[in-house]
Amino acid sequence: MNPLIIGNWKMNFSLDESLEFCLKLQRDVENTKNIIIAPQAPYISLLKKECGKINFASQNVSSLAGDGSYTGEYNAASVKSAGADYAIIGHYERRKLFSEGDSVVYSKIQNCLDSKVRPIICVGESLEDRTKDRYKETLTESIKNSIPKTDEEIIVAYEPFWSIGTGLVPSRNELEDIFAFLEGIFPKGRTRLIYGGSVDLKNIDKILEIKEITGILLGRLSLNYRNFLELLNLISDL
Ligand code: PGA
Repeated sequence: MNPLIIGNWKMNFSLDESLEFCLKLQRDVENTKNIIIAPQAPYISLLKKECGKINFASQNVSSLAGDGSYTGEYNAASVKSAGADYAIIGHYERRKLFSEGDSVVYSKIQNCLDSKVRPIICVGESLEDRTKDRYKETLTESIKNSIPKTDEEIIVAYEPFWSIGTGLVPSRNELEDIFAFLEGIFPKGRTRLIYGGSVDLKNIDKILEIKEITGILLGRLSLNYRNFLELLNLISDL
């Protein structure tokens, strides 16, 4: 299976910079089927019009369903109609900076599923839970409370909180162990398990050696066009 490569741009890039990046990507990469870019939401519609070959994700959707008087919110249906077939839900930064708990994550995922937006669901544990060896319990509890039962295909990104933006990546043994554990929780075939957190040009081959890992979620690396392209080339040579 070709790995899924997701670039989460977070709150970076102007419209011009985003467009330039996507146009170059569309020009330089023949097969963009497995590439998903998550730009700032206001740009999605224009980027999709100009760069139809690329898949786009929203970095968020509202936990509220339908339409309504909710100033500043945007629903899952709106990102779908703007051209995003995916949405990143439950990212650690949203949990930490915007106090999003499992029930909010649950509603957002449900809203995505109802609007045919495929959720990229981030799960992970704190360093404290990892060092106290209770991370499997916290992960199990969080997954149970935040992911609705569904027959739709979902993407689950394991992103240990202590790995995001830190340069720290779990060891091979730790990755094998946690992905075997996640495979035990999620039904095979309908869930794609991917890894995120400090993925770079030096560690990508080791990460993708683990057979349960079928894609990666990138933060910083996806902001540099040359590095992003180099990573795509490295992956296609693996
Ligand atoms: P990073 O971010 O690659 O910069 O560690 C990953 C993420 O935020 O998903």
